[in-house]
Amino acid sequence: MGLGWDALEARIRGCEACGLCRRRKQAVPGVGDRQADWLFVGEGPGAEEDERGEPFVGQAGRLLDAMLASIDLKRGEDVYIANAVKCRPPNNRTPEAAELAACFPYLQRQIALIQPRLIVALGRPAAQALLNEEVRIAAARGKLHSHGGIPVVVTYHPAYLLRNLQDKAKAWDDLCFARRSMRGLKHA
Ligand code: URA
Repeated sequence: MGLGWDALEARIRGCEACGLCRRRKQAVPGVGDRQADWLFVGEGPGAEEDERGEPFVGQAGRLLDAMLASIDLKRGEDVYIANAVKCRPPNNRTPEAAELAACFPYLQRQIALIQPRLIVALGRPAAQALLNEEVRIAAARGKLHSHGGIPVVVTYHPAYLLRNLQDKAKAWDDLCFARRSMRGLKHA
């Protein structure tokens, strides 16, 4: 897929590659700085994202914004935010493997266009899509993984953190690890 941004977003908005298209209000391609060093990848749009066409605008999004702020980042400033699937799974269920696979070329093209220095995978579906293997967040966090040569840090999804406050400190550690890794990359 050699599409530029406009053609890519148009392709995503009209996509019918899996059944998620049938119940979406709109697809949610992604948002932010198209030349960002940082790419954050979530799972898939929820109800508010489906309504507004922008990722992470609901409650989990407010926590993501706080997570970004904790390492001096801001939505849209050197940060791009995308999801592993671009259309809302009904009732916010976890996207199925076939849905993730159908949508993956879009994320790959976004990565190719952005060329981020570092990717943060938020939760298991994003991590599995990017690393192309079974992932357990507890085991995968705290290490630098790779997606096609781009370093990937894995951490908990903000929606999970809203339900599991005890893991928030670990997510903050992961973000500090990502920040340190980014500094290392810039000075390498
Ligand atoms: N959860 C996600 O994974 N992505 C969103 O855009 C919103 C909630």
